[in-house]
Amino acid sequence: MVSTDSSASFYVTTPIYYVNDAPHIGHAYTTVAGDFLTRWHRQRGENVWFLTGVDEHGTKVQRAADAGGVTPQEWVDRLVSTDWLPVLGTVDAANDDFIRTTEVRHIDAVQKFWETVRENGYVYAAPYEGPYCVGCEEFKLAGDLLPGTGEFVGQQVCPVHGRPAEQLSEENWFFKLSAFAEQLITYYEANPEAIQPVSAYNEVMSFLRGGLVDISMSRSSVGWGIPLPWDEKQTVYVWFDALLNYITAVGYGQPADTDAGKLFAQVWPVDVHLVGKDILRFHAVYWPAMLMAAQLPLPKKVFAHGWLLVGGEKMSKTKLTGIPPAQIIDHFGSDAFRYYFLRAIQFGQDGSFSWEDMSARYTAELANGLGNLASRGTAMVNRYCEGKLPAAGVATAAEIALSDHLTAVLAEAEAAMDRLDFSTAIVSVKGFVDAVNMYVTEQEPWVLAKDEANTERLHTVLYTICESLRAMAVLYFPLMPKTMTDLWDQLGAAATIGNIADQRVGDIARWGQLPVGAPVTKGAGLFPRLEEVAE
Ligand code: ME8
Ligand code: MG
Repeated sequence: MVSTDSSASFYVTTPIYYVNDAPHIGHAYTTVAGDFLTRWHRQRGENVWFLTGVDEHGTKVQRAADAGGVTPQEWVDRLVSTDWLPVLGTVDAANDDFIRTTEVRHIDAVQKFWETVRENGYVYAAPYEGPYCVGCEEFKLAGDLLPGTGEFVGQQVCPVHGRPAEQLSEENWFFKLSAFAEQLITYYEANPEAIQPVSAYNEVMSFLRGGLVDISMSRSSVGWGIPLPWDEKQTVYVWFDALLNYITAVGYGQPADTDAGKLFAQVWPVDVHLVGKDILRFHAVYWPAMLMAAQLPLPKKVFAHGWLLVGGEKMSKTKLTGIPPAQIIDHFGSDAFRYYFLRAIQFGQDGSFSWEDMSARYTAELANGLGNLASRGTAMVNRYCEGKLPAAGVATAAEIALSDHLTAVLAEAEAAMDRLDFSTAIVSVKGFVDAVNMYVTEQEPWVLAKDEANTERLHTVLYTICESLRAMAVLYFPLMPKTMTDLWDQLGAAATIGNIADQRVGDIARWGQLPVGAPVTKGAGLFPRLEEVAE
């Protein structure tokens, strides 16, 4: 048995996305949330592992490849290299690994996992008859489907994809899901924080209390998948292949003395699986049951976030309603994109994107709020102090209030990040930005500069602005790494304190870290004014 001490690490995953088509902002949303969360934990000095990747098998991908006139392998290779890998750079994700389910490390470990579960007595052969939604890649249960309307009247349709489910009839291998209902209920009653938000927890509990039926773990009519080791004519059902990425990518099944085996011992069980609410049941019911069947520890938390909507419906590849992330990022930049989606939508709720709302927040909160504060502060140090950070004199109530405010912001942001309440964390830092902007307005350093008798006071105000910006840069670095690196450079912090990525979030409220004399430069504006949006 390897050491199972994983307290020293923080492991976060996104879903692995289907490569039936290119990514849209819904996929970028989950990836950015995971990236913000993991960058924050890195700033705490934790040992972080952030995994994302793609789900390449199954009917949906097979059919997309058929329609494109290429083999599924050619299809996924092309889309991964033209779209799914580049989008990580577009949104500025700092993931530690990227898993593809066609990789040998995954295929071998999936086969090993199912051999183990079969040896443990949870797999048996039986026929499956019933509805299947290819959009969801899901065997649908009674109650999952809705009566169709319009062209689908008289048929049962998937509520997410709005299309009729297909009727399957095949000889499959089944996973004894029903054996785990009681254990899952007991586990979640004892660990309510394991499924969030509360609405997701309640949904899972009511599903579990309704009882579980066994489910096919293989497909006999799907060729594009991982062959069952004991029945090569069948492939592993795509979800029971995909979910395993969370362990296959971190070394499940590898000898304990290899790097991969050590990684597994260090990071499993996972701290947070981030998922959209569309795939909650897979992650909070089927996945932990699979882990129980293999006698592996369960995830500490599944967080189901809401949907980005288009016309009131989930933005979707299948329905061709996706907006490519680059369409927004080319205009606003990756940092503003990251800021907007995590700030404007309460994590866990649905939200919509509009150019108007995004432009308005960009201008008010980023360009006029933070950007203006940074450019005023650095410009005045240049104008009045030849670009050298002056020493602060005696602090008055106004300076003490700001430093107390910063201490409170840090505590509030840390607590919000622990709850994955990203927007509260961001709004808390924004409150500090607003307070410092107010301080500048009230102290009127440009008036102080007119009379030499006020020099000490002027220096105190300028020092306070720059120290506040120093703290903001670190607080916002996990969310907006590019612009905050620029701000850090402009403050002379890179030259005097060190790399922004090495700053510890817990230390940011310690006042007086920027050294007197630090070279402050008035660089380009952090958030340039927008041209009028064409749309
Ligand atoms: O479900 N709003 O892949 P998928 C918010 N391969 N998030 C969205 C979204 C939207 N409109 N659309 C997609 C799969 N997402 C499986 C997962 S995991 C073992 C296998 C995000 O390509 C959200 O995270 O359909 C959602 O759960 C995921 O993309 C679904 O991506
Ligand atoms: Mg989907």
